[in-house]
Amino acid sequence: MRPLTPRLGLFDSGLGGITVLKKVVERHGDISCVYLGDTARLPYGEKQPAEIRLIAKEVVEWLLSQDVSAILVACNTTNSLAIDIVQNISTVPVLNLINAAAEMTTESRVGVLATSATAASSAYKKRIEAFRPGTLVIENACPEFVPMIENGELCQESMKRFAIEYLKPLLEAHVEAIILGCSHYPLIQPFLQELVPKGIRLIDPAIGIACQLDRVLGEPQSICQRPCKVSNTRFFVTSNPIGFSLRTLPWLGNRPEVELISLQPKACFF
Ligand code: DGL
Repeated sequence: MRPLTPRLGLFDSGLGGITVLKKVVERHGDISCVYLGDTARLPYGEKQPAEIRLIAKEVVEWLLSQDVSAILVACNTTNSLAIDIVQNISTVPVLNLINAAAEMTTESRVGVLATSATAASSAYKKRIEAFRPGTLVIENACPEFVPMIENGELCQESMKRFAIEYLKPLLEAHVEAIILGCSHYPLIQPFLQELVPKGIRLIDPAIGIACQLDRVLGEPQSICQRPCKVSNTRFFVTSNPIGFSLRTLPWLGNRPEVELISLQPKACFF
């Protein structure tokens, strides 16, 4: 049976989906959510497409077993490589970050920073070009960012060196906006903003997905004042719940209770 009040299901490999959860709560209030961080298999972005697709199936089946009324794919890598699987399996509405970002993009020269798998799939390029033909889209992979963010190695000299290298082809192409095409990256948005010339807009697709949620939840009567409290979310991970709870502290402002689950791989052929 579906819950009477909406319950959203969000998932990511780890901390990244927190950026989406926060935007949702900022817009729609402290609604009931189920958050799954598949920490045992982090990072998704360095895996092969077949594995990302297999994982997506398991994760979505698990979320559906939690009686969610909509699924927010809070992971760009899954959006890029397995959104068809998520949509096929899901019996509830599915919202995705790439559509949200494409709708938010108005510039004609756009850069995308993303995981290796997302960049290799060209999912952002294809979606934006379909949505706004003629837009120049340059994607670049940033393989070091997710491990550094998860390890709390934030905004240090080493991260700066990687960021400068990752941004280089985008800046050389004179992009006017840069999409943060991995849900972990908004956690370092102020740091990235300092490394790009003024006037280049950094786009967080989570803002767009929170607005798209209006189609499921209705338009909010008033937008919440920051900081928003996240207290109606149940957090689950596939390894190290205590570590995850500690790592969320800087982003949530409190240490949530985090439950451990196991997702058993099942045979599946796509
Ligand atoms: N945060 C996810 C994304 O948006 C996955 C990052 C990873 O695990 O590599 O792509």
